[in-house]
Amino acid sequence: MTKRVAILISGSGSNMVSLVEAMKSPDFGAKPVLVLANKAEAAGLEKAKALGVPTAVVDHRPYKGDRAAFDTELHEVLSSYKPDIVCLAGFMRIFTPELIEKWAGKMLNIHPALLPKYKGLNTHQRALDAGDAMGGCSVHIVTPELDAGPVVKQVEVPILPNDTADTLTARVIKEEHKLYPAALKEFAKA
Ligand code: GAR
Repeated sequence: MTKRVAILISGSGSNMVSLVEAMKSPDFGAKPVLVLANKAEAAGLEKAKALGVPTAVVDHRPYKGDRAAFDTELHEVLSSYKPDIVCLAGFMRIFTPELIEKWAGKMLNIHPALLPKYKGLNTHQRALDAGDAMGGCSVHIVTPELDAGPVVKQVEVPILPNDTADTLTARVIKEEHKLYPAALKEFAKA
């Protein structure tokens, strides 16, 4: 059965594009049914439209101070597209445990660090500050604790002597674009 995939974004959506492009392969076992953003100005929305994927926006701003109400609306919109798998791809909102429970075992996230190291933000700068030899990225199953769910797939990227957060970001994101489709393909087949 071809799995239905919804992709949630907040920004440029480069990981979303890599997922959608990969799903064009007939043996992938999954297809994109929705790209949803939490702001209408997310640049990835235009990319999704150009790729022929339906889009939706659930703006978090009117729900300021009421995370549960935002999650309820998002869940309603998401459910209407009947996804089997939800991929967070640079989606920069934290969900309530109640929302995550509704998609338990069906929601993936990509995080720009070698989890369990560097959950949260500024991951590359923190790896540089710690003097790490390796940075990287991880795809994990989303659980209520932030960036703490089981890792599905991970890749290391060597940190070079003159790296800055920007140069490391640029090298890691290239690996993200390979890692996330590979992880989704395996996950969709399981
Ligand atoms: C990616 O590097 C992704 O790993 C990161 O945001 C970027 C989104 O880029 N996600 C997180 O930091 C989640 N905590 P994209 O919009 O071009 O895919």
